[in-house]
Amino acid sequence: MRANVKVNKDRLVSEIDDRIYGSFIEHLGRAVYEGIYEPDHPTANELGFREDVIEAVSELNVPLVRYPGGNFVSGYKWEDGIGPRENRPKRLDLAWRSVETNEVGLHEFVDWAKQANTEVNMAVNLGTRGVEAACNLLEYSNHPGGTYWSDLRKENGAEEPFNIQTWCLGNEMDGPWQIGAKTADEYGRLAQETAKAMKLVDDSIELVLCGSSSNKMPTFGEWEYTVLDHAYDHIDYLSLHLYWENFENDLPNYLAKSMQMDSFIKDVAAICDAVKAKKGSDKTINLSFDEWNVWYHSKEADSKREPWDIAPPLLEDIYNFEDALLVGCGLITLLNNSDRVKIACLAQLVNVIAPIMTVKDGEVWRQPTFYPFMQASNYGRGHVLDLQLESPTYDTKEFKNVPYLESTAIVNEEKNEVVIFAVNRSENETLSIDVDLEGFGDLTIIESTELADYDIKLTLDKDHEAMEIKDNHSFQSEGTNVKGDFKPLSWNMVRLQ
Ligand code: AHR
Repeated sequence: MRANVKVNKDRLVSEIDDRIYGSFIEHLGRAVYEGIYEPDHPTANELGFREDVIEAVSELNVPLVRYPGGNFVSGYKWEDGIGPRENRPKRLDLAWRSVETNEVGLHEFVDWAKQANTEVNMAVNLGTRGVEAACNLLEYSNHPGGTYWSDLRKENGAEEPFNIQTWCLGNEMDGPWQIGAKTADEYGRLAQETAKAMKLVDDSIELVLCGSSSNKMPTFGEWEYTVLDHAYDHIDYLSLHLYWENFENDLPNYLAKSMQMDSFIKDVAAICDAVKAKKGSDKTINLSFDEWNVWYHSKEADSKREPWDIAPPLLEDIYNFEDALLVGCGLITLLNNSDRVKIACLAQLVNVIAPIMTVKDGEVWRQPTFYPFMQASNYGRGHVLDLQLESPTYDTKEFKNVPYLESTAIVNEEKNEVVIFAVNRSENETLSIDVDLEGFGDLTIIESTELADYDIKLTLDKDHEAMEIKDNHSFQSEGTNVKGDFKPLSWNMVRLQ
């Protein structure tokens, strides 16, 4: 099969906001305890954080990590996680029916984020709490000093403010499972007042309003419109969440599911703009896709567990190669929508539906989904080019005209390079690609790589070899033209200079 791609140096979609490569650590399962934090582990540093995990996180070059939830945040008292550890209470976490020890709290997570070279995206509890608790947390975190909460931070060992810039106004408040779930009007008003007050505490912050928990929620659309109508003037982003599954074991349909992400983004952007027009506002609300991933492998096991353990193994999906290909398609989709999606968080980062897994007292290992994320995050920086793509297509149960080729092209001005990411969705056929890079002058190939030839159900674990990103020698360039082959069921990267 053949496919053609054309870009022009002067036709850009948008600058990529680095935060599009964000991720997520929730107090859930073994994400924090036995994940990032395991003081007795041989690689633990003086703060109890596993250095082997920090190294794996650094390989992913994650600029932003959402914390502390997720569903967890909707019942969380952030004050439980500050001050001397021996005084911190153990609490029932109703979201995950676990016991939270509060050994790790705000200071520890900020310290971890520094060590992992990332920023914190902090969520406030708008389930069981409200304006006051959110403002106190912000004052504690960002106010320089001379007030009750900022001086308490200093007493607790942090002289300098944490300066957390990105804040989420609650989590999935439309979901009936959420502790303190609300109607759109209830949430919209609460979010409006919380946002207004938080910006009075610190007007440098940016705020994310909760959109729907997925585009399959019965209130999807109406929820977005209503909450925006209330809070529009005080917030900066609207959130989207989406998880994929392949219970039906239908590979062609599964790999097409990134198209649902694309239409979800476009639908939500349209609603933001409708509210903008209604209000006659000159402010555009952009999107924070702050939970996205594959999540289904662990659901049956999790449904059988008994409650109230500390750090039980929960949501420990073991990913396979087809999941990695869909995550690759998801990354391409986010990049191609980078004019509206400014923040995205792969949910999650360690042990819980995660690219990085740990063994207690043992190894850290990388899931197949680690690899496309690592390449996109490290090389997909700069501006997205407007891609004209001609590809053969196929139909599935849920989707029509699915292109076999999913692709994006990026120009990185700083490094003076053009980077192409691509997935070939075809099960049997190689895609021969002809790329025309108008206006770029003579280009040479720096590297072209592929993740291919793996069994589609291949999983990794601590005893398996890591996946190998191999060179793809089929690519050749001549002037502004580049040609090569993408193997069936492959994730690909081509870098040119
Ligand atoms: O990421 C796992 C859970 O998925 C989060 O806690 C919640 O926000 C979503 O439903």
